[in-house]
Parts: sequence; structure tokens; C-alpha cells
Amino acid sequence: MKMYDIIDKKRQGYQLNKNEIEYFIKEYVKNNIPDYQVSALLMAICLKGMTDEEITDLTIAMANSGDTLDLSQINGITVDKHSTGGVGDKTTLIVGPIVASLGCKVAKMSGKGLGFTGGTIDKLESIDGYKTNIKRQDFLNQVNKIGISLISQSENLVPADKKIYALRDVTATVNSIPLIASSIMSKKIAAGSKCILLDVKVGSGAFMKTIEDATKLAQTMVNIGNMAGRETKAVITNMDIPLGHEIGNILEVKEAIDVLKGNGPEDLTYICIELATYMYMMCTKKSKEESMALVKKALNDGSAFKKFRELVIAQGGNVNLIDNPELFLKPKYTIELKAKNSGYIEHIDTGKIGIISCNLGAGRNKKEDAIDYTAGITITAKTGEFVNKGDVIAKLYTSKKFDIQELNDMYLNAITISKKQPPKPQMIYKIID
Ligand code: URA
Repeated sequence: MKMYDIIDKKRQGYQLNKNEIEYFIKEYVKNNIPDYQVSALLMAICLKGMTDEEITDLTIAMANSGDTLDLSQINGITVDKHSTGGVGDKTTLIVGPIVASLGCKVAKMSGKGLGFTGGTIDKLESIDGYKTNIKRQDFLNQVNKIGISLISQSENLVPADKKIYALRDVTATVNSIPLIASSIMSKKIAAGSKCILLDVKVGSGAFMKTIEDATKLAQTMVNIGNMAGRETKAVITNMDIPLGHEIGNILEVKEAIDVLKGNGPEDLTYICIELATYMYMMCTKKSKEESMALVKKALNDGSAFKKFRELVIAQGGNVNLIDNPELFLKPKYTIELKAKNSGYIEHIDTGKIGIISCNLGAGRNKKEDAIDYTAGITITAKTGEFVNKGDVIAKLYTSKKFDIQELNDMYLNAITISKKQPPKPQMIYKIID
């Protein structure tokens, strides 16, 4: 078999067979195919697409390219959740403890943030002492003991995705439904959980910009998950508005604690209740009403917060910070941005807000960049709110030298203020199962 022929076949729009896909993945991971040939194939896939059968073959070949996690030692039903990437998305820190407090088993590997989207592992590592890298057996024991462990992906989990993603990042081939679906689902399948809930984000702060594209991606991933024998559902959620008020690692942990204590912002609390309800339904087959009532009870009676504390203690984190969030480290500078005109916040370009947060130090532009856990943004005026000229609309936190005019212009450029009150944003568009 020759890589040249595989590229040429896809360039002409033909369907690749399983042997061709397996060959390309196996040989690329062994460094027997050069990056330039794989780049050419990735671009051909972007332009010509793939059938469901090809996407499934690609996903399975990628999932089998390295270690796969065997969760059979865990007593109970394992459930995983994955977000396609957003701004201010701290839902894993909330829904994991909720469903674990109700008896589901959450054995979850998460990723670091890249570009304007945040990553769960960076948020967890902002808790002093929290270890995201623990031995496999300790991870399984912890899930059996307290129902939850949140760790980083092992080095050898889906090495094909690591290599392909790095190449996509520099060849303008990230935004392709077959490539996103296979990248996400190969990691979910290799990570071993029986049930998988996908949170597919749509809007200015997401890869998918339209509900139509998000639906296509969600349907593709749900089909792959179900074909691979995992119960898979997807929720299509709004990322045209940052989730909650806080963006940045320590800020997001603090906001997650607020939700777990029943004092969180309405949009974030609402999404978390919905996501946790679907996760619990998948594990137990109970009705939506009964599941949601239990999820709300876990938030209201403190059992979800108690589970989060147990998780932090089990993984070596300083629980004093969870009990007294005011003790978290603080940034050097706080900058208040003010509205230039009176009116309603009509729209927030969430991707642009994510980029500002990244530039303040909360995220990475390159994989090797260090993160400032204290950096980020508090959005004090969200979509739909009325502001008077001169009101504080956001607080920016950083320890870097900054140009206040530039930050002000960037932020104001990301929001639209209008005289007309916009409708209340819809947070959940669709469920795909
Ligand atoms: N998240 C992933 O893991 N892979 C993608 O391709 C996009 C988002």
C-alpha cells in the first residue's frame, strides 16, 4: 500500500477502505509516513469529507493506536462527559461531583486548554497540590472508593490524535467534522467509560458556528459511540455567551464552588443541572423528572459539594482553598472596563473574549506556554443586561504588563450594545440520542 495512492483517492472524493485507514494511522504513529503526506491527506479530508463508515474506521484505528483504559475493575456504571470546547466552561468540575454523589462512577481523563478554549486539567491544577497525574491502579481504586477521579490523559492515550492534532493546528485543518469527531471519539472510546455525554458547543466561542453544523457533528459522534458499544448522547449548547461570569482557571474553580454550594449564576447552574441529569439518566435509566429531582437535591443538600471536597483531598489538593476560596492566589493587577454608551448588551463575541483571557495569561497560544492561574476575566454585564455609560462591564485580571487602551478597545470590540433589549439567550438547543 502507498500513502500517495491513499491521498490521491481521497483527493478525487472516493471512500477510503478500512485497510487504507488502518495503514495510514499505524504507519504514521510509527513515524513511517512524513508529515507532509499526512497534511495533504488531512486537507483532502477537509475538502472532500468522509462517510460515516470511514469516520468510524478512522476513530477505531485512532483509539487503538496506543493504550486503552480497562475500567472493568470499577464496580458500577461508568460515565464520561466531553465538551467540544468553550469559554468559561467549568461544567466538568460541577457535574462530575453531582453524579458521583448519586452513585455514578466518574473515571475521567481530561485535557489542557489550547487556544481560546479552557481545559479542565488547567483548572484542577490551579488548586494548590492537586495531582492530575496518578498511577493507573490508584485512579481505579479512588473511583471505587469515592466514585470519582479527574486526571490528565496518559501520555500514550491515542498517540495518533496527538500527532494529527498538532499537524491540524498548523495546516488549517482543525475545522472539519470528520476530523473533530474522530479526534474526540477516539479519546472517549480509549478512555473506557460505558456512557458518554457529549456537550457540543455552538456559537462565536465554539468550533461549530451554526446549529446545523453542530447537529451534524453531534449526530456523527453519537453514531460512532453507539457503534462502538457505548451509550452516547449529545446536548447542543449555546457558546455565543461565556458560561457563567468567570473565565480563567482560579476564577472558574471559585465559580464552580459557588454552583456546588447553590449560589452560582443562573445560566451555568441550569446547564449543569441538565448535563448531570442526562448523565444520571444514562447510568440508571430513570426518567428525566426523577433524575433531575435527584440532581437538584444533590446540589441543595450539599452532597455534591462534599463530593468535590473528597475529590480534591483524594488527589492531594489543598482543601482549605475549597472551604475558603478567598485564600486562592490573586493577580497583580485588576483593570475595570467601562461601558462607553448606555444600552443593552446585545451580543458578546465569545471567541474574542476567550482570546483576551488567553492574552492576560489564563491560556496558551502554544502547547509549551506557561499558565497564570490567577489571570482571567469577570464579566459583570452579560448578554441582555442594561448598562449605563460608565458602568463597569468587565474586570480583567493579570500579572503581566498591559496597555489599558488596547485591552479596552479589544473588549469593546467584542461586545455590541444596542437600544433594543435582546431576547433571553436559549442555553440548550437540542438533544441528540
Ligand atoms: N477537541 C478535540 O479533542 N479534538 C478536536 O479536533 C477538536 C476539539
